[in-house]
Amino acid sequence: MSPSSLRTYFLVALALAPILTLLRRRTRRSFKLPRKNERILIVGASSGIGRTLAHQYAELGVKGVCVVGRRAENIADVVTECNSRKGPNTEIIGITGDFAEAADMVKIRTQLESLWGGIDTMIVAAGVSALLPLMEVAGAQPGNVGTDGIQHVVDVAALATRGNYVGPLVTAVTFIPLLQTSSPHPSILLVNSLAAVIPAPTRTIYASTKAASLLLYQALAIEHPVIAFTHVLPSTVEGDFRASAVDGGKAREADPNKTGLKRGAVARRCISAIERGEKNVFMPWTMGPGHLLYWIWPAFVEWRASAKYKFTPPR
Ligand SMILES: NC(=O)c1ccc[n+]([C@@H]2O[C@H](COP(=O)([O-])OP(=O)(O)OC[C@H]3O[C@@H](n4cnc5c(N)ncnc54)[C@H](OP(=O)(O)O)[C@@H]3O)[C@@H](O)[C@H]2O)c1
Ligand SMILES: *[C@@H]1O[C@H](CO)[C@@H](O)[C@H](O)[C@H]1NC(C)=O
Repeated sequence: MSPSSLRTYFLVALALAPILTLLRRRTRRSFKLPRKNERILIVGASSGIGRTLAHQYAELGVKGVCVVGRRAENIADVVTECNSRKGPNTEIIGITGDFAEAADMVKIRTQLESLWGGIDTMIVAAGVSALLPLMEVAGAQPGNVGTDGIQHVVDVAALATRGNYVGPLVTAVTFIPLLQTSSPHPSILLVNSLAAVIPAPTRTIYASTKAASLLLYQALAIEHPVIAFTHVLPSTVEGDFRASAVDGGKAREADPNKTGLKRGAVARRCISAIERGEKNVFMPWTMGPGHLLYWIWPAFVEWRASAKYKFTPPR
């Protein structure tokens, strides 16, 4: 095939994509589980998007919401907040645990099996940030990086891998069998990031560890066609995510509370994507074409990404 006819095929596919997406949504909507029966597990619900998702599900009158995170105080607060929003038929459960620890996730599974007989929807919203250019993590002087600096990069990468890849891995392995055997319509939603598909400076470790869990779940979706997988890829969201930076870095970009997506809007979009059985969701949607643009015109996307993160390469 000549390069020009390849390009034509690509453009035709691009033009047809919205129509195909619409058709697929229509056909899958009828499989939806009634909300009053839905049992939901939210991992990473002690703050941010996961916490807002818990509030919204409590208000929607689902059967149960189980919120998980490491900070016990926050989990207790989220349970109180959800209880004040829910109706009489919704049950709220809070359990503390680390999603990268097999024993913690098995403990949660055992409790949910005995309390609810299983779950229908599993949301993985937990994650950690990393904010520095890689050579700053190494503490490198221009033209020189030593063993200690390299080792520090390895240690930081291990923390990011634990929070952004091993956690989603352990959670999936633990709960997929329960989802498949206990739900008539099992769903998994992964809150991932636009950073996983559009490269950005200062996000080398963050983006590469988020990309690992995105591909993990996208491939799992093929291995488990009975489960409806949804992957949500938001751009910057308001809140305190940057405080979790495993490299101790500070954000250089604009204040997420002023310019970022609203948590409420992201959570609403997550719920509608689950209920429609959508596979991949970009937020804002224009970043879907933006992602494709990277493969066609990388220099443009690299320039925009450098501007967003106020990055100029060291000389
Ligand atoms: N904020 C953004 O700009 C943005 C943009 C795109 C994508 N995202 C993604 O959105 C997700 C949620 O972020 P957010 O903005 O809501 O930030 P957040 O407020 O920091 O929420 C992160 C949540 O993950 C939990 N968590 C982290 N490590 C955990 C562990 N080992 N075990 C269990 N829970 C753990 C935290 O709870 P504990 O600390 O209590 O464990 C917290 O509840 C993340 O996956 C992030 O990558 C965020
Ligand atoms: C943004 O808002 C959160 C509360 O949602 C707050 O904890 C955080 O400090 C704020 N960030 C900035 C940069 O003001």
